[in-house]
Amino acid sequence: MKAYRSAILRFATDRPPSQSAVYEEDGLLVVAPDAQGTQRVHAVGSFHELRPRFADVVLEDLSGRLIAPGFVDLHSHYPQTNVIGSPAEGLLPWLENYTFPEEKCFAELDYSTQAARFFIAEMLRNGITTTLTFATSHAISVNALFEQAQRSRIRLISGLCLMDRHAPAALLNQPSGAGRSDATEQSLLSTEALIQRWHGVGRLGYAITPRFAPTSSEAQLRGAGQLAKRYPDVWIQSHVAENQHEIAWARELFPTSRSYLATYADFGLLRQRAIYAHCIHLADEDRILLHETGAAAAVCPTSNLFLGSGFFDYVKADRAGFAYGLANDVGGGTSFSPFHTMLGAYYVGREGQSKSGLSLRPQHLWWQHTAGAARALGLAGVVGNLQVGCEADFVVLNLQATALLARKTALAKNLDELLFALIVLGDDRLVERTVIA
Ligand code: GUN
Ligand code: ZN
Repeated sequence: MKAYRSAILRFATDRPPSQSAVYEEDGLLVVAPDAQGTQRVHAVGSFHELRPRFADVVLEDLSGRLIAPGFVDLHSHYPQTNVIGSPAEGLLPWLENYTFPEEKCFAELDYSTQAARFFIAEMLRNGITTTLTFATSHAISVNALFEQAQRSRIRLISGLCLMDRHAPAALLNQPSGAGRSDATEQSLLSTEALIQRWHGVGRLGYAITPRFAPTSSEAQLRGAGQLAKRYPDVWIQSHVAENQHEIAWARELFPTSRSYLATYADFGLLRQRAIYAHCIHLADEDRILLHETGAAAAVCPTSNLFLGSGFFDYVKADRAGFAYGLANDVGGGTSFSPFHTMLGAYYVGREGQSKSGLSLRPQHLWWQHTAGAARALGLAGVVGNLQVGCEADFVVLNLQATALLARKTALAKNLDELLFALIVLGDDRLVERTVIA
């Protein structure tokens, strides 16, 4: 066992997200290993109330710091670190001119391994301890990522990118070497083999990963849906309703589906543990469909602002009641920092499609990147929070990391003011330490 004395932030699960923050100014966090050796939260609360019960436990004094749950990120692309900051008119030219050329490099093991190592280190350095991320359409890129994740002990979910049409030949799924199965069939066989190799190994999870409907044939989407049914605790990740040209393309390719989102439903790809990036330009029926199927949205504000994609509508999302959480969407997104992502979400909320000028409370923004994101993944009570029983993934934030942060946080009169100061002024300098399980 080990105990930490510090200010502590966590989230109540029985209150609305905008009122869910629980803050202990002088707190004690006690962690203990479970039977598998994973450190979990054993006790948490006021230092003075808890310390007598744990008087013999080794104590690290972090007074003046803030301990908060490790961030949970719902969508990114590990092969796109080098793509950050590549401007384009919009999504489709950005994919063609910057993203697809870079992803071709991930046919190489060394390139993939080096990129995976950098990506994971950068996620952890920024305080992200759970991540759902894309690899490329090369199985090598998936194995390289999982191998590096296993070493770092980050909780990571990923999968082979399924794309059997409408992309450069070097990025399409390949037929088997022996010519026994075509590219589509082989992509599904590889997906199943990768599920068996990696899903549930330590802290790793597998996600069935059709890139987006336009780059998959009907047969590939159907096969992906069949795998999703056969492996119900495996995740699904894809993109939807990000950009008007993308939507028009998807509608043209799948004209019998009611909408772009409904295309995924028609192939059995909307269910619990299915996470769809963006979800910007949806009809109300689509939002209800997300709610009814238990699928969730990954909100990617810095990406949506950078690529000019549009604004996630928080008011309509809450009205429909579907789950959502935040994501950096590197490399459409502009930063690995959860503070930048939360600030982007604040801007997006102010400029929603319904023009409500919604002012999201800072604790709601923080919840979206921790407990809310964990709930969207079906991992509530496991990660994204510091309630008793959660895996002990947390960040130690140094409120004096910069002169401006020290000045502004000292002026905070309540929790909202403190959290806003961190969201608006924070970046990787704020994260003094990231502690994993
Ligand atoms: N839609 C299909 N692929 C991608 C991608 O790599 N990034 C983003 N932002 N949208 C996509
Ligand atoms: Zn993406």
